[in-house]
Amino acid sequence: MNNLQQRIEGHLDTLSQFTATPGKGTTRLSYSREDLQARQYIKEKMKEYGLQVEEDGLGNIFGKMEGQLKEAPSVLIGSHFDSVPNGGAFDGQAGVVVGLEVAGLFAKNKVQPNYPLEVIAMIEEEGARFGGGLMGSRGIVGLLSEEAFKNLTDKDGISTVEAMAEIGLDSSLPKKRDPKTIKAFLEMHIEQGPILEEKGLSIGVVEAIVGLTELEVTIEGQAGHAGTTPMDHRSDALVAAAKIIAQFPELARGEGEGTVITTGRLNVFPNGANVIPDKVVFTVDIRSGKEEHVISAVGKVKDLIAFYKGNGIKTSVEQQLYVQPKTMNQDIISLLKENCRQFGHSYCSINSGAGHDAMVFSDYTDVGMLFIPSKAGLSHCPEEWSDSKDIANAVQILYEAAKKLTEAE
Ligand code: HGY
Ligand code: MN
Ligand code: MN
Repeated sequence: MNNLQQRIEGHLDTLSQFTATPGKGTTRLSYSREDLQARQYIKEKMKEYGLQVEEDGLGNIFGKMEGQLKEAPSVLIGSHFDSVPNGGAFDGQAGVVVGLEVAGLFAKNKVQPNYPLEVIAMIEEEGARFGGGLMGSRGIVGLLSEEAFKNLTDKDGISTVEAMAEIGLDSSLPKKRDPKTIKAFLEMHIEQGPILEEKGLSIGVVEAIVGLTELEVTIEGQAGHAGTTPMDHRSDALVAAAKIIAQFPELARGEGEGTVITTGRLNVFPNGANVIPDKVVFTVDIRSGKEEHVISAVGKVKDLIAFYKGNGIKTSVEQQLYVQPKTMNQDIISLLKENCRQFGHSYCSINSGAGHDAMVFSDYTDVGMLFIPSKAGLSHCPEEWSDSKDIANAVQILYEAAKKLTEAE
């Protein structure tokens, strides 16, 4: 194994230790103790690689290599370093490591870029703590207002501002960045699906990312005694929620075109074994390659929920996130494919069923994204795994792309 692979494995092994669920995958929520541990490691490595380190008012980390052109826009390269609960050790963080090692190659090869290169490590892409997701990138491009940011709280009622202060971050620092300061954004990410492995390919050059929306649904009924309340006297919020959720697979199939609908989080109140639930709050994650199917599926889900109103049941739906399907920059796609051919890496074009920070940046700058294979297509689980050889390939391809993008006019 070459030393680039060894460095990559070293970074990922170290980062994987910063988890709230050791032995049960990576749980690294934004502004948690584990975030702080990972943050300190990433900043330390950025400094070791000669980068100027800064954090913005959201806690996104930037490691900058100045260019010869002053006040010139930067080529950003990186990903996110938060995780889902009990997730894997590669989702997001492998992309941050690739950014770090690309900058390391610039330094090692004494590349003097015209335009600055910035390694970026973003917070709260998963939305596992504050809901929605893509928060770090949405804050940078100005899609998340200061007020909306300050009003976000986690399940314990802790606000973003309080959580940031707890780990020494200054939420009063600037959040929105002028798009004119960004020349391009490059991201390597694990595929999180089975296609590259099944095709025996090393690289996926991302053409487009599905549109996605996240709803938060609240069903309210009437609490009561599980033993003394006759079945026909109940307004059971959980029974209503279960009837709704059970119809999502059929609704998604009916929508077609790869539409997917998932309820990943559900909370029951008051959550007593002998109490009829009076409130259920659950998420609905809806995605499709075509925007009209996302919009149509959202409408059908809302109609389905409204159908169960009545007989003491109340329903409400809040849209937490909506991002249209996005296409990547064609010039960067061509550049990445050219580099794959130049280095003899097998590749294909691929669309992303997962959402990524790249889709947020794509309305503000030129964006390119690479996938590497995921073992058995697994992700968002402790079994998530990718080969450091594939990650090293991505470093090589993105190093060439970053050199071109930081020198070109
Ligand atoms: O949910 C997603 O697609 C991404 O992992 N945040
Ligand atoms: Mn993820
Ligand atoms: Mn991710």
